[in-house]
Amino acid sequence: MNTITSPLPFEQSPTALAGPERDVLLKDPGFGRYLTDHMVTIRYSKGAGWHDGKVVARAPLTLDPATMSLHYGQEIFEGLKAYRMPDGGAALFRPDANAARFYKSAERLAMAPLPEALFLESVRALVKADRDWIPEGEGAAMYLRPFMIATEVGFVTKPAAEYLYCVLASPVGSYFSGGPKAVKLWVSETYTRAAPGGTGAAKCAGNYAASYAAQAEGSANGCDQVVFLDAVERRWVEELGGMNVFFVFDDGTLQTPPLSGTILPGVTRDSLITLARGMGLTVREEPYAMDQWQADAKSGRLREAFACGTAAVVTPIGTVTGKQHDFAIGTGAPGELTLRLKGMLTDIQFGRAPDPYGWMDRL
Ligand code: COI
Repeated sequence: MNTITSPLPFEQSPTALAGPERDVLLKDPGFGRYLTDHMVTIRYSKGAGWHDGKVVARAPLTLDPATMSLHYGQEIFEGLKAYRMPDGGAALFRPDANAARFYKSAERLAMAPLPEALFLESVRALVKADRDWIPEGEGAAMYLRPFMIATEVGFVTKPAAEYLYCVLASPVGSYFSGGPKAVKLWVSETYTRAAPGGTGAAKCAGNYAASYAAQAEGSANGCDQVVFLDAVERRWVEELGGMNVFFVFDDGTLQTPPLSGTILPGVTRDSLITLARGMGLTVREEPYAMDQWQADAKSGRLREAFACGTAAVVTPIGTVTGKQHDFAIGTGAPGELTLRLKGMLTDIQFGRAPDPYGWMDRL
C-alpha cells in the first residue's frame, strides 16, 4: 500500500543559491563537488509501504547512531545524468534502465524495492526543481544520485523494516581530473572486487568500499584506475573500480566481459553495445584473459581499449601496469573507434543527433 501523491509536493529551499553565485560554480563544477538546492525523500516502512514523498530543501539527515545501514551496509545507489538540450530544455538519459537496476539492487540486498514509476517520478521532479543547475558546455551535465538506506534502528542482523530513499543532484564536468585524456590502469592482483554469488552485479556501497584499497595501490603506482580480475581464477578481466571495459581489435570487432553476475550491468555499456551493433560492428560479450590483453596489445592485434560508465562516459585507456603486466595500447592516445562511439553517444545525450532508440526522456 503506497501513498505517494503525484506530482511530489514541493517545498522551496529557503537557502537556495542566487543565480549569479550558482553560475560561478557551474563554470567549473568538477565531479560531485557541489550539490543543488533540493533533494527528494521518500520513506518506506513495512505495513505502510512507500509514503511521505516530497521535494524539499537539501539538508543534513538526522540518523540514530544505531541505524542499521551504518552497521550492516544495506545501501544501494544509482547514477544517471540530465543534459541541457540545444533548445534550453532538459532531458534524462535512459532513466528507466536505472530504475530497473535499482529495483534489482534492492532485491539483492534484501531491501524494499522502489517501484520503477516512483524512481522515474523522483528523478524527473528533482531535475525540474533544480533545472537551472544543469551546466552548459561540452561534457557537462547534472548527475543524479538516487540512493536508499536502511533506517530501522537496532543491532539485529536482518533486513530492515524501514528505508529512506533519497535523490541528490550535482552539476558535473569530467570525472577524471585530468580531463578527457587516456587513463593509466593498475592491475589489481592482491584484491578482487566480487565473487560468484556475491553482490558484484548490484550497485551497492560495499562494492565501492571494497575497491578502495586496490585503488589506493593503483594511485601509489601512478595510475588513475584499477582493473579487477575474476575472483576464482584471477585470470579474466572483469571491470574497473566503477566502470565497465571494452576492447577494440584490428579486425574492427569489439569485446567486453559478459554479465556473469560479478560485474555491474552498466547502462553506458549496454548503450555502446547497441550503438556499435547498429553500426554493423561485431560485439562479443565474452571473457578476455589479462595475459591475452597484454599479448594482443604487444602484437598490435588489440588496437584500442576504453572504460565506460555514466560518470566516466567513454574514457580511453592508454597504459596498463601491474606486478606482472606493463604495456601501452596503440600509441597510448585515444583510439579512433573509441572517439567515434563517444561522439555518437554524447551527440544523442546532448540532443545534437536523432535518438533512434528512444533513450532521451525530455522534461
Ligand atoms: C557512475 O558511473 O554513475 C558511477 O556510479 C560510478 C561512480 C564511481 C561515480
